[in-house]
Amino acid sequence: MADDPVICTCLDLTRNDIIEAINQYGCKTTDDVADAIEAGAVCGSCIDDIQEILDEVNS
Ligand code: FES
Repeated sequence: MADDPVICTCLDLTRNDIIEAINQYGCKTTDDVADAIEAGAVCGSCIDDIQEILDEVNS
């Protein structure tokens, strides 16, 4: 889906996957997201993007 880009290519997790995880697990930090669904815990290159999504969801 065009407006649901893959954010974490290591795990093939899209923006919506990450938003769902943030809401489901109440993630506040990128470490929380990594603990919940491993996104950002493999190569780490998606952490900045995850932080942006966290900022949007939790703002
Ligand atoms: S792209 Fe997310 S951990 Fe590698």
